[in-house]
Amino acid sequence: MEIKETLSYDDVLLMPAYAELLPGEIDIRSRLCGDIYLNTPILSAAMDTVTEDRMAKFIALHGGAGVIHRNLSPDEQARQVGVVKRSRNWIIDKPHTVEENMTIRDVKRITAQYKISGLPVVDSQGKLSGIITNRDTRFCDNPDLKVSEVMTKDPIRAKKPVDISLARELFNRHKIEKIPVVDGENRIIGLITFKDLEKHEKYPQAVLDKAGRLVVGAAVSPQDYERRIPLLLENGVNFVVIDTAHGDSAPVVKAIGDIKKRWDILVVGGNVATPEGTKRMIDAGSDAVKVGIGPGSICTTRVVSGAGAPQFSAVLWCAEEADKYNIPVIADGGVKFSGDITKAIAAGAGTVMLGGLLAGLEESPGQAIIYDGRMFKQYRGMGALGAIQEGGGDRYQMNPGEGLVPEGIEGRVPYKGEVRSFLHQLSAGLRKGMFYCGCRNIEELRRYRKFLRITSAGLIESHPHDVVITQEAPNYSPQ
Ligand code: XMP
Repeated sequence: MEIKETLSYDDVLLMPAYAELLPGEIDIRSRLCGDIYLNTPILSAAMDTVTEDRMAKFIALHGGAGVIHRNLSPDEQARQVGVVKRSRNWIIDKPHTVEENMTIRDVKRITAQYKISGLPVVDSQGKLSGIITNRDTRFCDNPDLKVSEVMTKDPIRAKKPVDISLARELFNRHKIEKIPVVDGENRIIGLITFKDLEKHEKYPQAVLDKAGRLVVGAAVSPQDYERRIPLLLENGVNFVVIDTAHGDSAPVVKAIGDIKKRWDILVVGGNVATPEGTKRMIDAGSDAVKVGIGPGSICTTRVVSGAGAPQFSAVLWCAEEADKYNIPVIADGGVKFSGDITKAIAAGAGTVMLGGLLAGLEESPGQAIIYDGRMFKQYRGMGALGAIQEGGGDRYQMNPGEGLVPEGIEGRVPYKGEVRSFLHQLSAGLRKGMFYCGCRNIEELRRYRKFLRITSAGLIESHPHDVVITQEAPNYSPQ
């Protein structure tokens, strides 16, 4: 019997090489799946302490993408996808509207539900007759008033086709914040907001779909995809991730095949850790394969079950197989520092999925807590007791009512501030790694393949040593 030798990120370093470029000139755009490319090859994990609408929105604005977790009802998950899709688009397609005879109470309910600040108003024939925004409702203390009594009548509008310079001129000239877009019969077909126009210029790294809306993914399982996918598609989801701990299993293979047959949607299959598993995901129809059995910072799968594979080797094997079919691999879990992202991509991954590194950010779900004088945020595995009790058990083949056997733990991670600056640390770290190896782009890094195996003495030498850290760096915390 042959026992395979396997490696983790900490067991290797990339061998430095001659570089002709500066880190700032290096291109880190990478393919996620199908025709979706990320400007920063980072996905936020489908976990209830990592990715809800806010994280998904900000990570996409800064070049990555989020996968909204599924410890949410199908309706709530789809609503959150809708919030991300509506949060930035050049012209909002089919905007929410209200009718003249609805009340201010209705307006407040709709604006709160979709986190928007104003609505075009339509008359009984469905034609644009007004607009109602926070400005109109702010000083209105009678919620039973009709929309027609409070709205701004005959609003400035634009007829399709509208271009950015025309929209900017209308905003500047009339000092308004929203412009409804109408067709030849005055029927509302879109809405342009000043905020979206500003964001267009403020977030040059944003990952957008063809309609100019942020890219977002959502987690589904073999048990719930039939309910979730129609709702997710209605809200404009760009891809779904089969969120299971053991993807190389009959229900997952069947679910992927069924999804690809029934809906026109990109599917990420997983998780796997072997070439055979990767091939089965691809044969079933996966557009990308997610790799990682037990490397996560909160995972106990390997110690509870005795199964799994060290992540560096798993990514190497799976990417080699997936490359034969031109299918990208997502390295999921186990990334502790930006250098691990460089190693994961050099092992063949197209992108990485992060949980623990992002859980401490302002945009992750939940409030920061103060403990022992420092700020933290909660971070827990989706197989941890609390998460399973709230519905995530089927990821680990647990049925409701069974005695719970967790495969993860609950904990806290240091509070780290906002996505914007932290993602910059991660992408700059990746760029530095590519610079040290002389790689101009992600494809060159994926083909680089020059690793050094290091010893435990080498690992100790890699980290700060023989010194007491007096000021923590934004990209390094002692483990
Ligand atoms: P990191 O290391 O980024 O890992 O915190 C995030 C990934 O870990 C997986 N995950 C789990 N694995 N038990 C596990 O064995 C769990 O409870 C659990 N929760 C999440 C998941 O793939 C995630 O993206």
